Amino acid sequence: MNFLPLIEQKREGKKLTSERIQQLIREFTAGKIPDYQMAALLMAIYFRGLDTAETAALTLAMRDSGDVLKFPGDLRPLVDKHSTGGIGDKVSLPLAPLLACLGFRVPMISGRGLGITGGTLDKLDSIPGFQTLLPAARIIAQVRKVGCVICGQTDKMVPADKKIYALRDASGTVPSIPLIVSSILSKKLAENLDALILDVKFGCAAFMPTRAGARKLAKAMVALGNKCGTNTRAILTDMNTPLGRAAGNWLEVKESVECLGGKGPADLLELVIDSAAHLLVQTHKSKSLAAARRRAEACLNSGAPRAKWDELLVAQGADLNAFNRRLALDSPANVVIELKSAKAGYVQRCDARIIGEVIRDLGGGRLDRESAINYNAGVDRLAKPGGRVEKSGILCRVHAAGSARAESAIARLKTAFEISAKRPAVKPLIVEMISR
Ligand code: URA
Repeated sequence: MNFLPLIEQKREGKKLTSERIQQLIREFTAGKIPDYQMAALLMAIYFRGLDTAETAALTLAMRDSGDVLKFPGDLRPLVDKHSTGGIGDKVSLPLAPLLACLGFRVPMISGRGLGITGGTLDKLDSIPGFQTLLPAARIIAQVRKVGCVICGQTDKMVPADKKIYALRDASGTVPSIPLIVSSILSKKLAENLDALILDVKFGCAAFMPTRAGARKLAKAMVALGNKCGTNTRAILTDMNTPLGRAAGNWLEVKESVECLGGKGPADLLELVIDSAAHLLVQTHKSKSLAAARRRAEACLNSGAPRAKWDELLVAQGADLNAFNRRLALDSPANVVIELKSAKAGYVQRCDARIIGEVIRDLGGGRLDRESAINYNAGVDRLAKPGGRVEKSGILCRVHAAGSARAESAIARLKTAFEISAKRPAVKPLIVEMISR
């Protein structure tokens, strides 16, 4: 294929045909198009964009660049959720077993941390023995038997995205809506889902800083997901404040288990219940969102999802005794120190970006692809906006590998909190739902 005219067409703002896009992805995946030409096309797309038909063709061509999961017939709908990522965002962990208990099948193919935002697979890697890399046949068998799986993409799923994402990362073309949409949806469509709920975050620690930007991305993904035959909805959620009261891989697993016991923080519970409720409505298992919320909450409180979590862990190789011993510890980190408030008042701000950067620098995230992760690093007992603190009351605790790192984290975390005399109005977490 002579690829140059395609780059020139897009550079001039012209439309690419579906056939040419399919051929492009086929040949790029097969290594027949050099990276420098693909990078040039990505930059042309970054500036000129893709229309809906082009984005759909790109998404489907990327999906079809590898294996699409094929599940045997079953009355339980296939569902999943995707989050654009944030600090303390552990929703997937309690949500997968909850959905399985609500009568869904959940092939939750997840990713690793990106920038300061945590990744579900990194959180799961903090569980002794838990395997996140499973072949397709095992994913399919576990979904049938347990009802849910949480694992990484296999080598054979959506290889085009792996190659294109690496080029986008190296060519400054990540923040392009059609490229983000095709990247996220190609992977979700390869799960062969009946319904998908997207959590698109906005705020200082989100991929999309503004609500308007998040809405634009959400609308594009919802339109395309539905066009491709998967019932797709999005919720826009605030990511100026971390979700829950803990952030950092192991600390988030611990908080997820509390949530499965119905005892998690209110914001986390709200997002877990709402995500499940939307999927119940999308698949016609509940008539209204209010009824679906009641059903999801009752299921969570029944204890069944907590038992399903243990089943999921065992199915993916975890050592349940070692997990429970770890869970019983206050912290597996070498050092735990408290950040105390200099004055009494109400928490005005608990800055998710600063907290995310601190956790990454404690070793809880990656500075580059090769970085080793310290799974025990993180913060917990976060004081959240609207909450009251007394003088010397705890604003958060830092879990670190050593005292020097913990002290430097504490110094930076002081700038993450603002305490005021007046109780601030608490902002809603879920601000909007988009269904078309
Ligand atoms: N996550 C993805 O998988 N792809 C993107 O392009 C952005 C976020």
